[in-house]
Amino acid sequence: MAEILDAEERWRTLTRTGPGTPAGRLLRRFWQPVVVSHELPPGSAPRPVRIMSEDMVLFRSDDGSVGLIDPRCAHRNVDLSYGRVEDGGLRCIYHGWLFGIDGRCVERPNDPDDDETCSNIRIKSYPCIDRGGLIWTYMGEGELPLLPEFPFLDAAPGHRYIWRWFSNCNYLQGVDGDVDPSHTSFLHGLNVEKVDEERRNRFNLHSVDKAPRLTVKETSFGLRVLAERMVSAEKAKYLRVSNWILPNGSAANGHETYLGLGGCSTHWHVPIDDTHHMRFEIVYHAKKPLPIEAIDKIRAAEQPVFGQPRRTPENRYRQNREEMNTTFAGLGVAFPIHDIVATEAQGPINDHRTEHLIASDVAVARMRRELLAAIQASERGEEPRGIIRDPALRHFKDFVVFSEKLDENADAVAFADEIATQDIYSRG
Ligand code: FES
Ligand SMILES: [Fe+2]
Repeated sequence: MAEILDAEERWRTLTRTGPGTPAGRLLRRFWQPVVVSHELPPGSAPRPVRIMSEDMVLFRSDDGSVGLIDPRCAHRNVDLSYGRVEDGGLRCIYHGWLFGIDGRCVERPNDPDDDETCSNIRIKSYPCIDRGGLIWTYMGEGELPLLPEFPFLDAAPGHRYIWRWFSNCNYLQGVDGDVDPSHTSFLHGLNVEKVDEERRNRFNLHSVDKAPRLTVKETSFGLRVLAERMVSAEKAKYLRVSNWILPNGSAANGHETYLGLGGCSTHWHVPIDDTHHMRFEIVYHAKKPLPIEAIDKIRAAEQPVFGQPRRTPENRYRQNREEMNTTFAGLGVAFPIHDIVATEAQGPINDHRTEHLIASDVAVARMRRELLAAIQASERGEEPRGIIRDPALRHFKDFVVFSEKLDENADAVAFADEIATQDIYSRG
């Protein structure tokens, strides 16, 4: 039986992820992206990173392996992010102690009595893997789970694009937004009369019916969310399928939408601390190459420094009231920025107790309930779903993302089930 919590306890439990918190313990039981792989090339400087309220240093050792270790040298606490990457580890610049990727002190060269005992000195470390264009870490206890085989992991060259966005708010606001299909008609909306044909075609379907009907279905990794919009003039409906991936991921169509079946944009909202998170976004298409240069141009316009939006609360996100004649929000054309502004504008930690959820929030409400249940199950020592131990279950068979126009009477749930049986992510 799940413990009954009042509204404040629920909100606190869901949004606090520091060490020792219930949600923090749950998130730590899943592999989490830390940086994009190209940000840590061979020979690069160690990077200070803050993740789930823990300050760490990430480095790629000279043998290519990646370590995430405590930045405080075990000798006298000098910050190891200033250290030298050499001899298979990270060497402190003060007295030369050397730490391996597992946090173990392997050399203590200023010690006249140096002997084997230095191998007993160890600083905190978390295992990392470099897969699918991301560096992932596992910060939980016990045996490492497997990284699920998301479709984008083994992308052909030109079929994957990864960006990340620093975000000034609690991670859950990012996750909420990803299971909230009705905002697309507004926040990302355009005045379709005033934009070019390509954009008009892309957004028209979201604009015609602004109040999609939602259906939420449990999957092996989280939830599938179906949003149906009526296109009355064509006796059709537009179905968009998105997913929540336990505990802080999602997948829906993004920049690759117009390339048809076989695409997905997968996100993780990784807490930096309780009032900041990093949104990782992996745009992928199995069968068709992406317009990488075009996407990167959008990114570069919004992020002069990779990962850091130029629109911030300090400059009021450069919102342009003139532009609101053509775009709903006056915030340019990069969807992630729209999401970031809206979610940051909910405050550093959105207070669930003052919200008024309606039928279009059914997936948000369900996701929060399931997340709370997973946290409580994890606290009881149970293993939440979505954690993979058996290599045979490494592919989530029910993972599917698409947007399709159907006959107005079509059964959307059955249609999505049928698409999920087709191997749409085979590279074929
Ligand atoms: S403080 Fe790091 S080696 Fe002395
Ligand atoms: Fe959005």
